[in-house]
Amino acid sequence: MNIKHFLQFNDFEKSEIEWIFNKSKIIKDKFKRYEKYWPLEDRTLVMIFEKASTRTRLSFESGMHQLGGSAIYLNTRDSQLGRGEPVEDAAQVISRMCDVVMIRTFEQDIIDRFAKNSRVPVINGLTNEYHPCQILADIFTFIEKRGSIQGKTVAWIGDSNNVCNTWLQAAELLDFNVHVSTPKGYEVEAERAGLYGDDNFEQFDDPMDAVKGADIVTTDVWTSMGFEAEQKERLKDFADWQVDEDMMKVANKDAMFMHCLPAHRGEEVTAEVIDGPQSVVWDEAENRLHVQKALLEYLLLGEQNGK
Ligand code: CP
Ligand code: NVA
Repeated sequence: MNIKHFLQFNDFEKSEIEWIFNKSKIIKDKFKRYEKYWPLEDRTLVMIFEKASTRTRLSFESGMHQLGGSAIYLNTRDSQLGRGEPVEDAAQVISRMCDVVMIRTFEQDIIDRFAKNSRVPVINGLTNEYHPCQILADIFTFIEKRGSIQGKTVAWIGDSNNVCNTWLQAAELLDFNVHVSTPKGYEVEAERAGLYGDDNFEQFDDPMDAVKGADIVTTDVWTSMGFEAEQKERLKDFADWQVDEDMMKVANKDAMFMHCLPAHRGEEVTAEVIDGPQSVVWDEAENRLHVQKALLEYLLLGEQNGK
């Protein structure tokens, strides 16, 4: 079936991402003016959560309502998904009853199999490997404040997880650089990250070297959902990878601090940094709403609604 999905960041061309950013600005402006905008009237989004969420659920559910449509929440606990119904069967059934599906799950393979059997577009709301909606919001936040991200440098400090992998894919597509610093044993795996090359990314042993000249300094929890069994060990391994004020001083003077949230103050970031003047974390969170509304509109109506 030839349906457009958003399962990882590089499922889209650069021009499609740019369309979404332009549309996000228009949609955000309308939202701020309380202007009714219902291009998805009578459309239904099904949201499947196999992991916890605050921002992703809220932004997709309220976003769909604000576009004139409706959203249905399903989770593993109280649907047949948690009782072993094959993903392929679930996809066949669910996609006959709605117009678009968003899934938060474990392995990327699960969402890929769902999409192969779906009659409607599928959006990745986070897997172990990727978090493409988050990076749409983060780059939109940068563009709003500083303009194009092309040629800029993002320093990723900590775990090379789903959010890191997605920054790396975005860097290849939009031509910016990512400096990654992780403890030994937690380095980026290019194949798992879905990278085509290594032109846009460099690994550093010392996080202080990674942040030099950075326009964005960003990090995430040391233990992502699904990796809880490793938490004790990770607390020890990541102790020197905390983003603090000394680290921010090494980055560019006007560098932004980003974090997808939820955050653990005193672990991956100090309270001074995340609550400080360089932090844009609340804008990133809000922008999830606006970029995902543009994404939903793009997947359901294409570019027909104009710029
Ligand atoms: N950043 C993010 O995806 O947050 P939630 O886990 O709350 O959805
Ligand atoms: N890397 C984190 C992101 C949460 C939004 C996780 O996967 O748990």
